[in-house]
Amino acid sequence: MRNNEIPTFTSAFEQEVYEGLTTFPKHLSSMYFYDEVGDKLFQDIMAMPEYYLTDCEYNILDTHKNEIAALFKKGGEPFSLFELGAGDGKKTKILLRHFVEQNITFDYRPIDISQNALDQLENTVKAEIPEVEINTLQGTYFETLRDIGNANGRRKIILFLGSNMGNLLHPQAVEFLKNMRETINENDLIFMGLDQKKNPQTVLDAYNDKTGITEAFNKNVLARINKEMGGNFDLDKFLHWEVYDPETGTAKSYLVAKEAQTVRIESLELEVRLKRWETIHTEISQKYDDAVVEWLADQANLKIVTEFTDAEQQFKNYVFKK
Ligand code: AVI
Repeated sequence: MRNNEIPTFTSAFEQEVYEGLTTFPKHLSSMYFYDEVGDKLFQDIMAMPEYYLTDCEYNILDTHKNEIAALFKKGGEPFSLFELGAGDGKKTKILLRHFVEQNITFDYRPIDISQNALDQLENTVKAEIPEVEINTLQGTYFETLRDIGNANGRRKIILFLGSNMGNLLHPQAVEFLKNMRETINENDLIFMGLDQKKNPQTVLDAYNDKTGITEAFNKNVLARINKEMGGNFDLDKFLHWEVYDPETGTAKSYLVAKEAQTVRIESLELEVRLKRWETIHTEISQKYDDAVVEWLADQANLKIVTEFTDAEQQFKNYVFKK
């Protein structure tokens, strides 16, 4: 490992890699799973039978689209529908189609860290539901919340689906909710999908598929370091390891070194030594219950307006306001 001097970083990703791999225990943020390959892998994950989250939320939106439309359009006022971490928008399109059918006046503003995901989403929305006015915005959640705050005068509805907030630790989630609160006005709403605590085996299976898609997704952060920073990680020398703590509701993903190794990362002029069985923590996927959601809302001074769920209460969509 290079000593003393800290290099100047050309991106937040470089800084994260340097800091995460020169500390103990090592970590890398799941934010960096997503490039063109990672986006495709995540789409494959959402289509896996084990990854129940997508089907549950899809069914909730489909079942409750009338009530959701009534909530969003209020007295018929036009609104801007922002979506944080929009991805491929598969679930959102249920609502977009329904709103168009109901002649509701709105515009759609999907936001994602991946420009590639946004381009694909824009193309498919334009092809499938051409009536929708769509404007994409690329950036991290925290960056783009500022832009939402400065948006046009329409009522704002912020969608945050797929339990995306579960990738944040509670203190970060509170910070994030507080930022969201700052962004919205009295009449605006936040519509958020949060995965619920359930049979621990169901959770483990969702993040540990036998086909290895989640493993490839987890390892994509190493593949990106190889591609973008001249790294020489050998992906086969790592295990994908998932744990779930049913008490806290936290699922955690790790990459575990199967053998001692030294990895060189050219653009950081960094050599990373890993001992046999040393871990790199990569992701948390938090599972919630009502008490925790009420606590989070309380911490951020948000009110819970209502919630929608499926028959088995596997997943819930909460509506918050100021
Ligand atoms: C995007 N996010 C909510 C997913 C999750 O469930 O934490 C990412 C994911 N990681 C592994 N599988 C899916």
